[in-house]
Amino acid sequence: MDQSRTSHLIVRKIPRTDWLTLLTEMAKLRISVFREFPYLYAGSEAYESNYLRTYFNARGASVIGAFDGEQLIGMATALPLEEAEEDFRSPLVQSGYPIQQTFYFGESVLRPEYRGRGIGKQFFDLREAHARAICPSLRYTSFCAVNREANDSRKPENFRTLDGFWKSRGYQKHEHIQARFKWPEVGSSQESEQTLSYWIKDWKL
Ligand SMILES: CC(C)(COP(=O)(O)OP(=O)(O)OC[C@H]1O[C@@H](n2cnc3c(N)ncnc32)[C@H](O)[C@@H]1OP(=O)(O)O)[C@@H](O)C(=O)NCCC(=O)NCCS
Repeated sequence: MDQSRTSHLIVRKIPRTDWLTLLTEMAKLRISVFREFPYLYAGSEAYESNYLRTYFNARGASVIGAFDGEQLIGMATALPLEEAEEDFRSPLVQSGYPIQQTFYFGESVLRPEYRGRGIGKQFFDLREAHARAICPSLRYTSFCAVNREANDSRKPENFRTLDGFWKSRGYQKHEHIQARFKWPEVGSSQESEQTLSYWIKDWKL
């Protein structure tokens, strides 16, 4: 990417009033990034639009966008755990995390050609700042990531795990706190069960 393109990149909180306008672009972005390994998720715009509305309806949600000019090229979301969908909320609640003091980060997705330029770090900075601003008693921030075998034959040769990045941000993997979802994997017509483990940061440490 040359300098003139880089200079048009901006990462910012998207005002709530713009969320619905960007709904289709957000859904398309999630579908294209999550089609790749490790997610291999063959998503549909109908499901994605419905999923994104959870955030749009949550009073404490924040949606961060990365833009190249006017074009949405990445996004990240955050919301108080108490406003997250049951399937994401209950593994943490059942493991004893205080619902009023925990924030959940929904996803961070960035088109591959824009990676490695620090946008992922800005996604964390902005989501964590939001969580701390609206939840003065904040104790934990969390997100979950899909589990794949180290020798998964579908893993591309150039795949780089993000584990080191997440650890450097103060997150620890809690292997046994898991969310379970079914989704149709790319190349398969059937849904299969997927496990996602939680990564949690304790702000008192
Ligand atoms: C997560 C994601 C948004 C990070 O975006 P990013 O802008 O590349 O992140 P940064 O440039 O801030 O770099 C973050 C770290 O990833 C590393 N990284 C850079 N380019 C990378 C690449 N192409 N692949 C994997 N990791 C990369 C960086 O080295 C950095 O780690 P370091 O600070 O220890 O050196 C992006 O990798 C992505 O969209 N991944 C696919 C979706 C996904 O798995 N999301 C996470 C779960 S929802």
